[in-house]
Amino acid sequence: MTTTGQTVYLNGEYLPLEQARVPVLDRGFIFGDGIYEVVPAYNGRLFRWPQHLARLERSLAKVGIVNPFDRNGWSAIVGELIGRHPWRDQFVYLHVTRGVARRDHGFPAGVKPTVFAMASELQPPPLAQRTEGVAAITLPDERWLHCDIKSISLLGNVLARQAALDRGALECVMFRDGWLTEGSASNVWVVRDGRVLGPPPDHLILEGIRVGLMGELCAASGIECETRRILREEVFAADELLITSATKEVLAITRLDGRAVGSGRPGPVWSQLYDAYQRAKTA
Ligand code: PDD
Repeated sequence: MTTTGQTVYLNGEYLPLEQARVPVLDRGFIFGDGIYEVVPAYNGRLFRWPQHLARLERSLAKVGIVNPFDRNGWSAIVGELIGRHPWRDQFVYLHVTRGVARRDHGFPAGVKPTVFAMASELQPPPLAQRTEGVAAITLPDERWLHCDIKSISLLGNVLARQAALDRGALECVMFRDGWLTEGSASNVWVVRDGRVLGPPPDHLILEGIRVGLMGELCAASGIECETRRILREEVFAADELLITSATKEVLAITRLDGRAVGSGRPGPVWSQLYDAYQRAKTA
């Protein structure tokens, strides 16, 4: 087995990644019964941590897993993991499952949640993705109706992302009944006539932490930003299309289903928001 040099947190212990083990009856393994978070840290400082923590709390509450830690408890684990690794920029993966129990769909009584956390090096999206933009495909959104929960049951997202990769694209933009939802692992934004549009953060999408941030960055950059339902035709007629996520920051989609988006180059609104994002990271 290769060693990564990573130290991870598992159920109260800090140990080398290679030594971290969970029992096969963990409900995360058996049912995908758990939730997760992905939190970036720049120069050792967590970015938007209170918002990520609040979403972690919401996800846990929505699936009925008792939060194993208070905010200080979570902050201590995350701070410890970041402090143990040399990388300037990192992202922390947090994962909580309902715990280990005999296989039965109903919630087990008296079981402690499994808590796993890991820090990894965070590299900015490659230069080519920033200068050329990225390709995406479109597919119907075939996931369940609680996409607001950051659930570890990600099969729908996994299949959508793989369909994109199989066609030489980076992301899959999804539609439900002809309305834009989101990407397989990102939120999607339409730019038209200098305005930024995003779908409403309801149960059909994960409200990315960058959704609130985009609103702030637009306001600070004098760009109008609106949240409303967006038709598939509007996506294809966009001047620019953007995706946001903890690891992709803000990228331009410049090809959609093989067709150029707008000019086919990352546009001026992307450029302004990209710069504003870089400033926010170091603020
Ligand atoms: N995914 N929508 C989906 C389905 C996502 O998986 C993600 C992020 C987002 C963007 O959320 P945020 O801005 O909080 O990163 C939207 C993470 C990065 C992942 O699963 O690795």
